[in-house]
Amino acid sequence: MIGIMGAMPEEIRHLIPHIQQVSRKESGMREYFQGILHDTPVVLVFSRMGKVAAATTATNLILEFGVEEIIFTGVAGALHPELRIGDVVVGQHLYQHDMDASPIMPRFEIPLLERQYFETPRLQTDRAMAAVRRFFEKMDAYISEAEKTQFNIQAPAVVLGDIASGDVFVSAHAHKEAISEGLPGVQCVEMEGAAVAQVCYEFEIPCTVIRTISDAANESSEVDFPRFIETIASNYSEGIVLEWFRQRKDLI
Ligand code: ADE
Repeated sequence: MIGIMGAMPEEIRHLIPHIQQVSRKESGMREYFQGILHDTPVVLVFSRMGKVAAATTATNLILEFGVEEIIFTGVAGALHPELRIGDVVVGQHLYQHDMDASPIMPRFEIPLLERQYFETPRLQTDRAMAAVRRFFEKMDAYISEAEKTQFNIQAPAVVLGDIASGDVFVSAHAHKEAISEGLPGVQCVEMEGAAVAQVCYEFEIPCTVIRTISDAANESSEVDFPRFIETIASNYSEGIVLEWFRQRKDLI
């Protein structure tokens, strides 16, 4: 069983109609959709935003539904200056940028785990990169020309890179700079990925985080983020996750 997560309804809603023999279950204020996607048993849920919401949902996926792997899909704000709206980051190292138990422990270190980040296994990053590339090849089936024009999406890129999660929506240039200064090289910022990665690490199952850039984590984010979420975030998640499952099925 594979768990598919997003933080917001818009990040998962287009996937629900693709699930066969779907059944719905409520637990802990979440709605879980269980069924079959490309011959694979899956359970789909939106976690709500933030690290606690994501961590409890991931834990429930593992304990109540018995998932053996989690794939998280959603949006992120760009930290790297070359990232554009519509580009996709596949998480390699997942940091928690608001974790700071210094001076007792080094900044960013996760207490007792003696690490500052969670690493995604190579098999998972390879699969995710391939799925995003295939989604880009077929992008016209998911995103209209008008939508591409609206967001100035021309030749979107996929990068394998580091992601920082924290319980904060970053919407000021100074804040973005401060995060980048503490964690140089991090590509983008979001609010759940590293929490899910921590739960998966602790339960010893693989986790994949795939994030589409919805905004530049600056003063424009207040406008760009809701526009992207309302318009095309669900199409990106739909296309990427479907390609991920198609390709997985081809390999079995
Ligand atoms: N997810 C998408 N954009 C974000 C931002 N600017 N800050 C935090 N999480 C985000």
